[in-house]
Amino acid sequence: MSDAAQNIVETDDLEQADQRPARKAKPGELEEGAPWNTIEEAFLKRRSIRKFKKKQVPAHLIRRVLEIGRFAPSQGNCQPWKFVVVRDRQMITEMEDFCAGMCKKISVPLDYTLHKKGTFARWRSETFLKLFAKWRPNTMHPIPFGAVSLIAQDRFKVFHHAPTIIIPLMDTRGIGHPQVDLGIVGTNLVMAAHSLGLGTCWVGLSSFLNDSPEWRERLGVEEPYELLEAISVGYVLGKPMENTVARETHETLWIEDGKKELFY
Ligand SMILES: Cc1cc2nc3c(=O)[nH]c(=O)nc-3n(C[C@H](O)[C@H](O)[C@H](O)COP(=O)(O)O)c2cc1C
Repeated sequence: MSDAAQNIVETDDLEQADQRPARKAKPGELEEGAPWNTIEEAFLKRRSIRKFKKKQVPAHLIRRVLEIGRFAPSQGNCQPWKFVVVRDRQMITEMEDFCAGMCKKISVPLDYTLHKKGTFARWRSETFLKLFAKWRPNTMHPIPFGAVSLIAQDRFKVFHHAPTIIIPLMDTRGIGHPQVDLGIVGTNLVMAAHSLGLGTCWVGLSSFLNDSPEWRERLGVEEPYELLEAISVGYVLGKPMENTVARETHETLWIEDGKKELFY
């Protein structure tokens, strides 16, 4: 890992942070409880970055990140993606303003907590919310909806003022589940950027742009491509890596030698 990347990861709370193995273990050689290796550590210490320096990232670093994206695995090796890179400050601001406008449009009618129980406005809001949840299942979670409200109130910007936005477009003709391939290519981009000492944040709220004919044209999004997500990239401002982000201990069903066991 580069020195810069080392600096931004070293403030995390992982116990093993300074117990780097002296050399790479051969497959199967590692003992249980051995310190995380460099790649594992990078995955554990990456955080979403929401404060960026104004300084632009050199174009060659972004091209390097894209090159790592190109080698992402995909079902049937169909590589159902292409990229749009936006580094134009004015255009990023316009993208932010457009998405903020959409957040305003949906948050007022959908946020039923704004209205008193038993009122017509509350009933209308709850009904609208139910219809919206049917149209866009999986979007009405308190966290993304909370972000929509904050953006609507101009409390933060959709792309976090990043100087570079990478938009991996999904080719809907992809084999199997192209959304999964898109997530994997995005992970390659994010981890490559992290390894170069850059901060990134996935931006699901960018998908408003996909619904706008004007923005589809401006960003060159044509059939059969879809804009599902974007990734903000830039130099990290401050020390956000010190924040711990809660993680669940998800259930794992372990099946071995005719036995089934659950662990967390
Ligand atoms: C597909 C996807 C979409 C996301 N969209 C947003 C977003 O629109 N805005 C934002 O601030 N963070 C967004 N995030 C970041 C998540 O909030 C973040 O990954 C999560 O809270 C875990 O924190 P960590 O990335 O620091 O580990 C998104 C993450 C993913 C994977």
